[in-house]
Amino acid sequence: MKILGIETSCDETAAAVVQDESNLDKRILSNIIHSQITEHEPYGGVVPEIAARAHLFYLENIIKRALKEADTSLDDIDAIAVTAGPGLIGGVLVGVMTAKAMAMGLQKPFIAVNHLEAHALTPRLSHNIEFPYLLLLASGGHCQFLEVLGVGNYRLLGSTIDDAAGEAFDKIAKLMDLDYPGGPAMERAAINGDIHRFPLPRPLKGREGCDLSFAGLKTAARLVIEKQQPLSAQDIADMSASFQHAVAECLSERMQNAIKMTKLPIKHFVVSGGVAANQTIRQHLQNVAIGNTLEFIAPPLRLCTDNAAMIAWVGIEKLKLGLTDDLNFAPRPRWPL
Ligand code: KG4
Ligand code: ZN
Repeated sequence: MKILGIETSCDETAAAVVQDESNLDKRILSNIIHSQITEHEPYGGVVPEIAARAHLFYLENIIKRALKEADTSLDDIDAIAVTAGPGLIGGVLVGVMTAKAMAMGLQKPFIAVNHLEAHALTPRLSHNIEFPYLLLLASGGHCQFLEVLGVGNYRLLGSTIDDAAGEAFDKIAKLMDLDYPGGPAMERAAINGDIHRFPLPRPLKGREGCDLSFAGLKTAARLVIEKQQPLSAQDIADMSASFQHAVAECLSERMQNAIKMTKLPIKHFVVSGGVAANQTIRQHLQNVAIGNTLEFIAPPLRLCTDNAAMIAWVGIEKLKLGLTDDLNFAPRPRWPL
């Protein structure tokens, strides 16, 4: 089975071909990503209208490249899978309309994919793990602990009550005039920083449950940054290190509670989404997993941040279960798991 996946929900225009044969390995035959970073950088964040136009401009070529690199013709594709939400509606529409037109023209199944489900199921593509597992999904817009029971079957254990972790990184990085997106820029800056220089709070620490909160941490960091103006390179490095360390400690402390809360016979703790690319955060989470005799799984970096291989993979999971969608499926800018 070979699926073409398309991703246009934020600022990556991406297409991929993923194959799954019963007697062969799951294989990513191609995974093409055009990042729109340079288009949005001057504004310090994603501008939805610019993103939608850029997707329209790049997508056709990205799909052609994905097929070429996979050495696959459209006839060999079994279905077209596309992110149909949640995300910026202009971009989502570009992807969905393209996928629908292809599905109709080729007379192949159309599969509408929830972007969050794609992050959640990525470890089954990268590491072949079985259901159920415990997941921390930490991206630019979402931060939640979930029990992953099966395709389309998730139970929310806790979630952020204000900002997502990625969003907090992006906002603090912007205050320090770091490159967009903020998370990777702060991780780079933190290499030369002192985690103890700026004491920052650990919101919700010691509270029951596994909800998360980053607004207080963000405000505390903002106040320090405002007081410290003008910032030296060392100030930026120290703030990045202190902030990254605080986020890692918040996530790992709440993760301990999430593990206590689940009654499932889980073997794996998985982290996925863009924030999972952060090495300090991975290390903290891994320590908690090992302390609870769970295997820690983090997909490779290129599968953590937005990509179309994860979308194609959900297409495979759903097609195997006979789950395809109607061509009148309406894109969903908000679409909780
Ligand atoms: O999953 P993703 O690529 O897109 C969404 O679905 O949101 O996540 C993007 C988020 C951004 O907020 C970005 O700053 C953050 O993930 N991120 C990171 C790192 N790489 C990406 N945060 C911290 N450290 C990183 N290395
Ligand atoms: Zn994402």
